[in-house]
Amino acid sequence: MQSCTANTREALSPCTLVIFGASGDLTARKLIPALHGLFCTDSQPRPFQIVGCARTPLNTEAFRDLLLEALTNRGPEPPAGWQKFAQHLAYIPVQYDDAQAFTELAASLRQMDRDHQTQGNRIFYLATPPSLYPVIAAQLGRAGLAAEKTGGNGWVRIVVEKPFGRDLASALELDQVLHQSFHEHQIFRIDHYLAKETVQNILMLRFANTIFEPLWNRGYIDYIGIMAAEQLGVEHRAGYYEQTGILRDMFQNHMQQLLALTAMEPPSLFEAERVRDEKAKCSRSLKPLDRATLAEHLVIGQYGSGAIDGRRVAGYRDEPGVALASRTPTFAMLRLFVDNWRWRDVPFYLISGKRLARKETKIVVQFKRVPHSMFRDMLAERIPANRLTLGIYPDEEIDITFQTKTPGPRVCLRPVRMDFKYNQNDKAPALDAYAKVLLDVIQGDHMLFWRQDGVELAWSFLTPILEECEACGDRAQQLHPYPAGSWGPEAAQEWMRLILNN
Ligand code: BG6
Repeated sequence: MQSCTANTREALSPCTLVIFGASGDLTARKLIPALHGLFCTDSQPRPFQIVGCARTPLNTEAFRDLLLEALTNRGPEPPAGWQKFAQHLAYIPVQYDDAQAFTELAASLRQMDRDHQTQGNRIFYLATPPSLYPVIAAQLGRAGLAAEKTGGNGWVRIVVEKPFGRDLASALELDQVLHQSFHEHQIFRIDHYLAKETVQNILMLRFANTIFEPLWNRGYIDYIGIMAAEQLGVEHRAGYYEQTGILRDMFQNHMQQLLALTAMEPPSLFEAERVRDEKAKCSRSLKPLDRATLAEHLVIGQYGSGAIDGRRVAGYRDEPGVALASRTPTFAMLRLFVDNWRWRDVPFYLISGKRLARKETKIVVQFKRVPHSMFRDMLAERIPANRLTLGIYPDEEIDITFQTKTPGPRVCLRPVRMDFKYNQNDKAPALDAYAKVLLDVIQGDHMLFWRQDGVELAWSFLTPILEECEACGDRAQQLHPYPAGSWGPEAAQEWMRLILNN
């Protein structure tokens, strides 16, 4: 028997989605495939229009062709139902610094509302470089496009992609600009990790079962590892990555969210504000790292050349667009503590890196060893402790290891695994992460989005660490090289083994 929240298909009001940065990579790689997927499964709102906006001078036909080409590249077959889907796509070129262009955009959107009965409901999706977020938000405000009508229809929402600033000060600045035109309830700060089924399941596992939560604390847990390892390098994103590095790209957002879901207290209700309140409480409990001893808690590294699947690949500094002497870290391992009653002294190891041995995302909950080994006279080795693994990628599974007796006359213990695979009982394809967040924006559901206090708390913790990492001269944090295709720098191997070993 399944227990589900109410089906929200009916709650999808008609709307227009306006994508800024529509000629860019994110639109072609993530947004359009997700939207096309929604159309193919008839999960989109009705009516629904998609308006691409960018500086590139294109017309609607050329825009549709560009997207078709991008979608076709993803597989051998032309995408199903493309002709019908394309009817919902339009393109309007916009120079972001041109106030008149936004006034004209407002007029075009009003006309579309009349033509397509989209009822004035609008989503503005910022898929542009982050430096343009404040510019576009201000232009939308000036053109009257941020204002909502009261009651029912006429809602307006803005979707912001990470990074939300590059440190605490710039995050506050961005927030101030957004709030000059938009209210907090209109702002959706995306973290696509939260839309992953397996990530959403963390709260279900913890709080819809009684057997885990009594053990989920310092009394039983030895340490927790959270790993997001990638095999890909920086690819064509050097311009962005040189400014960002692994700490801003993965730790400020995805890793902190995984940590919060693993360590937070149960909210009284599965509802956006209460869940985000608990996450914020958890972030507030992070023990600040002492700058003087930071090297004991943090290893940063950068990949050199190496081999991935038997193929030679370039080192980070040889990637196109990367500075020859770049000190941008592509790997980090951070040991931190959640300083509260539940977690005091339990280390959390957060690990993420590019060009590692394989792509693997998981959370490892390592339990303590048994307090007393009654088998000590018979068994030479110490009994390995239980481990619960929440696999996020590629194995979408939960598994637990425990000891059993090996069948036979002798007393021998052997570790066994009991696992659950997400797709084993359910044939329904999982919803793409971007499709999920887009549907949530259409429904106005903030559960899977960052709230501003969470952003600020994440930056408050990370900014002093970044300052240390980016300090010059003697104070500079050591940047450890590692070969592409390995499990990271030598200096991280001791901790790495804790997470990788089963
Ligand atoms: C993005 C980062 O947010 O997440 C990328 O900018 C990273 O650098 C990606 O590759 C990883 O996401 P996923 O879903 O592939 O684990």
